Amino acid sequence: MLHDIKDTLEFTKQIAVKTGKMTLKATAKGFKVNFKGVNNLVTDVDLAAEKMIVAAIEKRFPTHNILGEEGGQKAKKSDYDWIIDPIDGTTNFAHGHPYYAVSIALYYKSKPLIGVVYAPYLRELFWASKGGGAYLNGKKIAVSKTAQLTSNMSCTGFPPLKREENLPYLTKMLAVAQAIRRCGAATIDFCYIACGRYDTFWELGLHPWDIAAGRLIMEEAGGKLTQIDGSAINPFAKQNILATNKKLHPAVLELFDSKDLSK
Ligand code: IPD
Repeated sequence: MLHDIKDTLEFTKQIAVKTGKMTLKATAKGFKVNFKGVNNLVTDVDLAAEKMIVAAIEKRFPTHNILGEEGGQKAKKSDYDWIIDPIDGTTNFAHGHPYYAVSIALYYKSKPLIGVVYAPYLRELFWASKGGGAYLNGKKIAVSKTAQLTSNMSCTGFPPLKREENLPYLTKMLAVAQAIRRCGAATIDFCYIACGRYDTFWELGLHPWDIAAGRLIMEEAGGKLTQIDGSAINPFAKQNILATNKKLHPAVLELFDSKDLSK
């Protein structure tokens, strides 16, 4: 087990900020956009950012496993897994929309240990370590106290394909929520629950790198994450998720009938 969690957290914050700053510079210079699939963008900045993060991790922790969105997978049979989304919200980034972030998590034996999310345009650095609380720009954060679905600021996202599978959920939530947002970076959506800006968040087909860092920040701030039918999360699988300020979890599960409506 790592003894220097504090140092590792500092290291993770530093790479996230350095990478985020690099993405801002790249925006000014211009970049190429490619497609991994229909409506699934990747820019050369995503690739450069992942390379930067992987190189820093490999230098400091050469025996650790790494899983990155852009293919940077290194399986070394370690108990430690780094899970990286170099730019979460690539479509936003490509369009000059400020809601995107660098997301880096460290897991130990499949459980989150460190989570760092840096939104460079917004100049917001969120972080958490297991048992150490969650922070935004150095200030401790906590989830909202909202207890009524009708006072609930919810958010969601749409996967690049099969977007219509989210419509049954959207219809149900629209009928009761105070408001729903769709800003386009899941990792920030988790952090917005962590600091009380959102109360609930659901999304279908999220990948491990969309979830890994933000979920620890949200859980350390008092939030709850399950699959959309209430079952436990598998940190290494693509899945349909429900994240809330904890108080609203039973009400949303009931609203969604505690089953996966997309199936
Ligand atoms: C995407 C964002 C978005 C979510 C998509 C993800 P990416 O991640 O998190 O909010 O709706 O499902 O794929 O591709 O920009 O890293």
